[in-house]
Amino acid sequence: MAAARFIIPFLALVFGLALGIKLPQNPDENPEPLKWWQQEIIYQVYPRSHQDSDGDGVGDLAGIQSRLDHFDELGVGAVWISPIYKSPMKDFGYDISNFTDIEPQFGTLESFKNLSSALKERNIKLIMDFVPNHSSDEHPWFNMSINREGIYDDFYVWKDPKGINSTTGEPIPPNNWMSVFGGSAWTFNEQRQQFYLHQFVAGQPDLNYENPEVTKAILAAVKFWLDMGVDGFRVDAVPHLFENQTFADEPVDPNRPPTALPTDWAYYQHIYTYNLPGVFDFLARFRELLDIYTWADGIERVMFVEAGVPTLDLLMEYYGTPERPIAHFPFNFEFINRVKSGFNGTNIGDVVDEWFTKMPEGQWANWLVGNHDNGRVGSRFSPSAGIVDAFNALVLLLPGNAVTYYGEEIGMQNANISWEDTVDPAGCQVGPDRYQQFSRDPERTPMHWNDDQNAGFSTANKTWLPMHPDYPEVNVEAQKNSTENSHLKVYQLLSALRQTDVWRYGSLESQAPENGSLFGFSRIYNGKGFICLFNFVDEIQTINVPQVFENIPQNATVYSTSVGFQPETAVGTTIGTDNVVIGARHSIILEF
Ligand code: NOJ
Ligand code: MG
Repeated sequence: MAAARFIIPFLALVFGLALGIKLPQNPDENPEPLKWWQQEIIYQVYPRSHQDSDGDGVGDLAGIQSRLDHFDELGVGAVWISPIYKSPMKDFGYDISNFTDIEPQFGTLESFKNLSSALKERNIKLIMDFVPNHSSDEHPWFNMSINREGIYDDFYVWKDPKGINSTTGEPIPPNNWMSVFGGSAWTFNEQRQQFYLHQFVAGQPDLNYENPEVTKAILAAVKFWLDMGVDGFRVDAVPHLFENQTFADEPVDPNRPPTALPTDWAYYQHIYTYNLPGVFDFLARFRELLDIYTWADGIERVMFVEAGVPTLDLLMEYYGTPERPIAHFPFNFEFINRVKSGFNGTNIGDVVDEWFTKMPEGQWANWLVGNHDNGRVGSRFSPSAGIVDAFNALVLLLPGNAVTYYGEEIGMQNANISWEDTVDPAGCQVGPDRYQQFSRDPERTPMHWNDDQNAGFSTANKTWLPMHPDYPEVNVEAQKNSTENSHLKVYQLLSALRQTDVWRYGSLESQAPENGSLFGFSRIYNGKGFICLFNFVDEIQTINVPQVFENIPQNATVYSTSVGFQPETAVGTTIGTDNVVIGARHSIILEF
């Protein structure tokens, strides 16, 4: 209607066939109530960057506790906190020197208990990030292993040198295995006169899962946190847990990226160090331990695993089977891996379709567009503001878990970090010429709360990473108080829709036209529904919705639009569904 005032180049869109999506549930049957972990938005907190309470420029647990209102305002029901265990911070917490204590920079076990009970009071679940593959080289276990003390002798993966380099006199590593961060995965230990394996930095020696004592020690740590009342775990880097015991060289990958060097991890096919069958045996035991706690009180303890395996078929194995459940879900990185700059609606449609086609019967999907290891969604694509809202809508409204990385709700962007300010080992390790290709610092800068000094994150003169300079405009307070639409306001509307039966139990129909310009999906339950329409190209698009989607009424109410939506369309107005106009790179949600 409002659209009629505009002269629009009408594109005759030929929509592809319905993407053949399986319904998450048959909406005609009595749906089963969702479990807490299926329903709640999971918000990833990067503790160094959330809120600093003591002015040292690094976020901490008391800081997180002081910002709980934000979770309630977003409708977040679960927080996943990146590692907060004692750590020398060689990989910013993913190098743990005590699995059952808190890093002093973050607080104490006491501050952990305070945070945990404050979250419980608000009915927000707490998910710990657990790192079973390696410890820190400063863990007492490693020291005892160097000294070959009792059961610790082979707690880590030790190997003799292959020989001695005749020119340098240096010991030669046992094989060609590379660290994920570049360079040999082996470091020589003078004292023990052997190499130890580290698939990440040298300060992260790999635990030896061939030794059953290691599994016991690690599961004892898991139990410690379960007894502290946590609701579950995000389990780090699980495909790295086991190594083939022949310790043979890995072959060069014929499909390696053209920029990969022989010292890069991406140069090889990781047939001896990645995704070996033992991984599933270990995770099944981990899951069994969680299930024991679930059985005791009926509240599900959950396991979400990080497994960056090369195909969706391999990833789906991480769900396990009804006889041997593994993860509640493996993280779905498809929007990151397969939706690249220059993407179109068909790419999005393929990701959605393939996930539902390949996911085993009875399992639950999950969606995310960023984390602490990947560039922020707002920066990966065009700077257009609408993209942020579109991706938040995909993540929050498709059937399944929604995982939000801090700052996505306000459209935070990657920061430009100079070589001098670079601290991430993935960047430091490759040097000043290539650090920008590998460093994860740009997506880890502190959260923007307001336009005060350091965006209200810290009173320190210098924060651990520089602040993104756009914080005076892009921050929680500004977006909350703005008289205009904002990413935060859109996010709140999306979050509210998750509380409806349409979101919980609704059917899913998804469509992408053959020309790739659009993507859309509808959710319908008991005659009520909503439809999300995304325009991913630079031209205005007009859609006759009932011609493309099934069961769409003639009129619908505008529920939400992306920030700066064109042509101007007020939320709450009723429009004809046969002529929905969407400006370049914008999105709209209609309710009926
Ligand atoms: C995956 C984590 O997400 C990443 O941040 C970390 O560097 C590695 N695992 C090693 O623990
Ligand atoms: Mg601090």
